Amino acid sequence: MLDQTSRDLVKATVPVLKEHGITLTRHFYARMFAHNPELKPVFNQGNQQSGGQQQALAMAVLAYAEHIDDPMVLLPVLTLVANKHVSVGIRAEHYPIVGRHLLASIKEVLGTAASDDLIAAWAAAYGQLADVLTGLENDIYGRAALTEGGWTGWRAFKVSEKIVESEEITSFYLQPADGGKVPVYRPGQYITVKVFVPVLGMMQPRQYSLSAAPGNAYLRISVKREAQLAEKPAGMVSNVLHRDINEGDILEVAPPMGDYFLHEDRDTPVVLISAGVGLTPKLSMLEHLTARKSGREIRFLHACRHGGVHAFKHRVRELAKMQPQVKSTVYYETPRASDQKNIDYDYTGRLDLDKIADHVIMPQADYYVCGPHAFMQAQVASLKSLGVDASRIHKEAFGSGGFAD
Ligand SMILES: Cc1cc2nc3c(=O)[nH]c(=O)nc-3n(C[C@H](O)[C@H](O)[C@H](O)COP(=O)(O)OP(=O)(O)OC[C@H]3O[C@@H](n4cnc5c(N)ncnc54)[C@H](O)[C@@H]3O)c2cc1C
Ligand code: HEM
Repeated sequence: MLDQTSRDLVKATVPVLKEHGITLTRHFYARMFAHNPELKPVFNQGNQQSGGQQQALAMAVLAYAEHIDDPMVLLPVLTLVANKHVSVGIRAEHYPIVGRHLLASIKEVLGTAASDDLIAAWAAAYGQLADVLTGLENDIYGRAALTEGGWTGWRAFKVSEKIVESEEITSFYLQPADGGKVPVYRPGQYITVKVFVPVLGMMQPRQYSLSAAPGNAYLRISVKREAQLAEKPAGMVSNVLHRDINEGDILEVAPPMGDYFLHEDRDTPVVLISAGVGLTPKLSMLEHLTARKSGREIRFLHACRHGGVHAFKHRVRELAKMQPQVKSTVYYETPRASDQKNIDYDYTGRLDLDKIADHVIMPQADYYVCGPHAFMQAQVASLKSLGVDASRIHKEAFGSGGFAD
């Protein structure tokens, strides 16, 4: 625990972090990549370009300063960060590098306002946070290595099948190239895949939720191709995967992890809520529950634009037919003339939980939400207003999420 003087000094920086946090973290990344360019391929350069990672780090530093008297209240988000770190291979030896650039950035951005005492207080505070994170990360590395079929670091997987699921989502079936075991994982968890991105001239990691139930002879990921839009460049890794990676190719894969997974220690109802490609972790959960013939009441709610981008519609319908306690409800925002109402989708427009509260609000149910940021915010707000306890709402952000909520 830091002494009172150091904690007061750190807390005194809260207003300045609120105002200049992003300037600080932008400066930090530019500085770190200039001095330690070998770290660039470790970081998601898409998140750097969109500003998502600068924002995530700024929120994290601010939250830590605000909670410096009791940093363990941040444990749930620190667990998310630790999983993300392990998923891209961050090790204890990286912390001094980040620490050096962070402290130098505080000095350079704050100028004369950064007294020696303040820098010393932040150095101690950073050391404390680094200890918490490396402790969590060591546990995750240990568990990944000890899991059946598990490993640490990167392992080569061969693409055994590449299947088009919709106009924009394609699945990749992955099998260990060493002929070894496929790892056990919890439905909802993700793997990280590393590919060479020609436009950057470097490798890049991206996380993908496992879309199939555990226990198969493969890992399956289902990737949306992020097309170029007027205001946004084409996604780097998703386009490489769709365009260049084919059956027989090898992908570097980090082990399954993540703190968003199906809670199996209960037999209460499960409500799975997604939009777009956010259905991937839920599909793993649904396949797992049906394979186990779980008696749990299951609602599968999915929203997408129209039938052309509606992935896995036949699979979900088939699973729902197999077990009467699975009820699937689909929303098309803008159905095409060729989309068949009552077969492919149930409602036109956006998913609105308030309107179907009788269908989704069940005692002791767990709610798993995944989709674009605005969609998740809306669903979580609706669930809370319908009286669902926050501890029963589980969500996965397909970007840098944790501290932003
Ligand atoms: C836990 C987790 C699970 C995930 N699971 C899945 C999954 O199952 N399926 C799936 O398809 N994806 C999943 N993702 C998302 C995935 O990791 C990638 O983020 C996604 O494939 C896009 O990567 P990319 O390299 O193609 O895009 P990037 O190049 O990283 O770009 C990402 C987005 O940022 C935008 N962008 C880039 N630069 C700028 C800029 N300068 N200004 C404005 N916008 C910009 C791009 O247009 C794009 O939309 C998951 C992410 C996480 C964290
Ligand atoms: C106390 C120190 C640190 C803090 C507070 C911190 C904080 C964060 C946060 C908040 C995220 C985003 C998580 C999410 O929402 O997805 C993140 C991701 C990440 N961090 Fe750290 N981190 C620290 C140390 C490090 C170190 C030492 C490294 C190694 C160089 C590192 C590399 C990364 C990478 C590669 C990501 C993945 C996100 C991306 O590539 O865009 N971090 N960290």
